[in-house]
Amino acid sequence: MKTPIPHDIPLPLPAAEGFLKILLVVSFIAHILFVNLMVGGSLFTLYYQWKAKQKKLYDDLAQFIAQTITVNKSMAVVLGVAPLLLINVLYTVWFYSSNALTGIAWILVIPLVAIAFLLTYLHKYTWEKWRNQRTLHMSIMGVAVLIFLFIPLIFLANVNLMLFPDRWSEAKGFFSTLLIGNVFPRYFHFLAASIAVTALFLVWMLKTKWTASYKTLLDQRVTLAREFYKIALGISLAQFFFGPLLLFTLPKVGLSGSLYLAIGCGVFFAAFAMHLMAKEIKTLTDTQFAQRILPISILMTLTVLFMASGRHLYRENALASHKEAVRQKTEAYQAKVKEAQLAASEIEALAGGGNRGQKLFQSCAGCHAKDTRLVGPPLTEIAKIYEGNPAGIVAWAKAPGKKRADYPQMPPMTLPDEDLKAIAEYMLGSH
Ligand code: HEC
Repeated sequence: MKTPIPHDIPLPLPAAEGFLKILLVVSFIAHILFVNLMVGGSLFTLYYQWKAKQKKLYDDLAQFIAQTITVNKSMAVVLGVAPLLLINVLYTVWFYSSNALTGIAWILVIPLVAIAFLLTYLHKYTWEKWRNQRTLHMSIMGVAVLIFLFIPLIFLANVNLMLFPDRWSEAKGFFSTLLIGNVFPRYFHFLAASIAVTALFLVWMLKTKWTASYKTLLDQRVTLAREFYKIALGISLAQFFFGPLLLFTLPKVGLSGSLYLAIGCGVFFAAFAMHLMAKEIKTLTDTQFAQRILPISILMTLTVLFMASGRHLYRENALASHKEAVRQKTEAYQAKVKEAQLAASEIEALAGGGNRGQKLFQSCAGCHAKDTRLVGPPLTEIAKIYEGNPAGIVAWAKAPGKKRADYPQMPPMTLPDEDLKAIAEYMLGSH
């Protein structure tokens, strides 16, 4: 690992680093929420469409959920741009390296996403048409689900790999990267979250006017909401297994007290939310429908906020030593660049100090000659006026006055001060 590449292009960040990091965490949460709903929604649709064999209610429910997938997927994609750009800007070296190392799989995300999206539209718009070809209709969603389940694995492999530069040499294509760090515990944690978040989302949907056109669902909404709450609660309980599994399989390099604190806060709010879910399961009625869904959602959002912050802290810790190594290499590299520049200018100076001024004097030579009058006065005359005062020539050349009646006015010269100074010294020394 001891060969970090210096940051040789000194491009500044477009805003304060801390601000960009907050933006990264917040925009990522917005993105992942809709990813959860997209993945969870497709799983629920497939599940209820399969159950629809026994009960017509589930067919309506599956169709209802299918309507949400395409909307949530559009939100997920649009909201994914910001965190993707931010991670590129903040972790350029690490992110690009892991992009390159996961290679073809990483590029595959684009066609896979496009195919899955088209399939979800196809599935949604053929609901009535292919009612009698259930297997065909369900297999369309089945393929979409498989793709939706695979894509997060690519993302996770990538953002996981970037945290462990000292293991990059082991990465031989996408599948080998799955075994670095702890991709799979993260993956199951994500999948479980998708199901829980979607279940709560569906309770909320049952409360809104969007359900109005689905009479069967409205009639059964208490039963359904209770089922969704049970799923959300059950899965949240399962996270008490997946969560610690994830935490204890994380390579030690990124663990810290503040990370545990962030996760502890997340767990606290999750437990509170679960308590409210349990209450809801007991007390749900049609007149008092899903009254605690708002506080539950807020608590779950806080959970996600703390978990995502923990994730960020882990990333910072894991990369800290590598970042420091890059900083040191960059410093050494820049010191060497300076040394080389100095040496070059010394060589130039040794090769004849007047050289530079003489060369640059070409911009004046059209009007000034050594001892003959051209458009302007000769250097012999100028040297007498400005003896020992090159700065006077610089000042004049930048903003010439009108002095001699028998000469035209001199135009101002737009050269950098140091160039003018070199010219002035040449003018005074060469006559
Ligand atoms: C387009 C022609 C032209 C060019 C190019 C030109 N000059 Fe002149 N320069 C003049 C003229 C004409 C005068 C006399 C103006 C006057 O006395 O009013 C003059 C006068 C001067 C004087 C005398 C000022 C004084 O106090 O008497 C200096 C010094 C001078 N030029 C420097 C420069 C330098 C340095 C450059 C190149 C970076 C330059 N000039 C390029 C036309 C030119």
